Parts: sequence; structure tokens; C-alpha cells
Amino acid sequence: MDREFLIFCRKWFEDYTSRIHCQDAEIEANIRLKLEHTYRVCENITIIALSQGVNREDLALAKAIALLHDVGRFEQLQGFGSFDDRKTLDHAMLGLKVINRSEILCSLPKRERNLIRKSIWHHNKYRIPVREKAEVAFFSKLIRDADKLDILRIITEHFERRDQHPNRALDLGLADEMELTKKVVSDFLQGKMVKISAMKTLGDRHLLYLGWVVDINFPITLDLMKEKGYLERLLADLSMEPEITQVRDYLQAYLEKRIFAPLPPLDTAVLNRSTF
Ligand SMILES: [Fe+2]
Repeated sequence: MDREFLIFCRKWFEDYTSRIHCQDAEIEANIRLKLEHTYRVCENITIIALSQGVNREDLALAKAIALLHDVGRFEQLQGFGSFDDRKTLDHAMLGLKVINRSEILCSLPKRERNLIRKSIWHHNKYRIPVREKAEVAFFSKLIRDADKLDILRIITEHFERRDQHPNRALDLGLADEMELTKKVVSDFLQGKMVKISAMKTLGDRHLLYLGWVVDINFPITLDLMKEKGYLERLLADLSMEPEITQVRDYLQAYLEKRIFAPLPPLDTAVLNRSTF
């Protein structure tokens, strides 16, 4: 992808989002939040993609994916006032509808259109299908890491200031307590990502985010998470829960293991090719 397309894409995105507003102040603030999130995800994906040695064209492609990955959030917020896909709709699916309707990808080669669409589709799913093509899986992993990194920023800041600055949309209607649900703890300790449907309390939500470490694909993402102290900040809120020692020990052991085996085989194979 060339730089001109990326500039065109950015202009379209700015124009499209400038037309999405809501009279409700909290929803309007969340529209702003998603806008800032998108630009931060663009920065994150640049750092992560460069750490993987991608060429200039693929870096532009990765940035376009980041720019468009949450484009469905804006109509979701405007229409439903909620981020909750369970109660509204799959925001990746809505994003793809917005993209198809706008025809912004029409001038791109089929490969790039396909990579953008599939990476957006995969960005919010529980996992990327094992049989997915290496190239699609690579870009999907880039967006998943870049997205998680900024969501962790949003969420840790939200939990730290929610008493002074409540945001109901970010709480997803969960019980305002730190008590952990048995099934959620059990999944976490088995290295399974916590399912959104299993969460009952805000404590469970903390475990969901802590559990994301097992779905982080690139070493630099883990380094950045560590640098920002996201895991420690989430753990601090759970310090009074009886399961905290098990949770902390599991995370510690997992992270130590990752330091010695930083890259799964698929990424190494992709990295070794100069072009896809
Ligand atoms: Fe998303």
C-alpha cells in the first residue's frame, strides 16, 4: 500500500467520524474516547510492526488496519450508547458494513482489501482460527496486540478514577465488586482467555484483562505492557481477594516462560520472509 492511500484513508476516517455525534454527554465523550483510541492504536501498531521488520508498504497496510479496525464503534455508540457487543452487535461486523458501504477499499489490490477486511474481522474475536493463512494471521496479530495495549491503558485509567469519573459504558453492567467468579479464576489459571459471557463482577473483568497476556503475540507488546505497569495496576485492585496469590504466581511464571521463548513458530516463519 502506498502512502497516498493511507492519507486518503485518514481523510475519509476524519470526515466520517466528524459526522457522528450524540446529544448525551456521556455517549459523546465515549465517541471521543474511541477516536483517541484509534489514533493510539495506529501508534502502537507502528511500533509493533517495526519491531517485526515489516517493509514500508506493509507498514502502511498495518496503519490502515489500525485506522479502520474500530470504525463500527461510532455507529454502535451513536445507535445504542453502548460498547457491549453482547447487547448490541458485533462492532467488527458493523465496521465492515461501514467500509463496504463507503467503498473506500475499492481501489486497492485484492490482497490488501482481503487483509484489511479479515484483520478487522479477527481483531475482536476470541481467537484467530488456527487454519488462517499466515499473512492474514500476522496482520490480525498486529492489530490484536496494538488494540489490547491501548485498551489496557483505557481500562487501568478507568478503574483508577471511576469513583470520580464514572463511565457506565466501560463497566459493561457488571456487579460493582471485586469478588472473583470460580469459573473465571479456573479458566485464567489454565491459561484460557476469560470469556466475556462468564464475567459477573468487575473483579472478573480485571482477570479477563490480566489473562490477555496469553494472547499477546509479540515480545515488544509485553515489554510495553510491563513498562506502563498495566498488570501491576490491575493486580493491585484484586489485592484483597483470596485468589490473588495464585493469580500473581500464574502470571509471574507465564511471563518468565515467555522471556525464554518469546516468539511462537508461526511468527518466526513470517518474519523470515522479506515480503509476503
Ligand atoms: Fe474493537
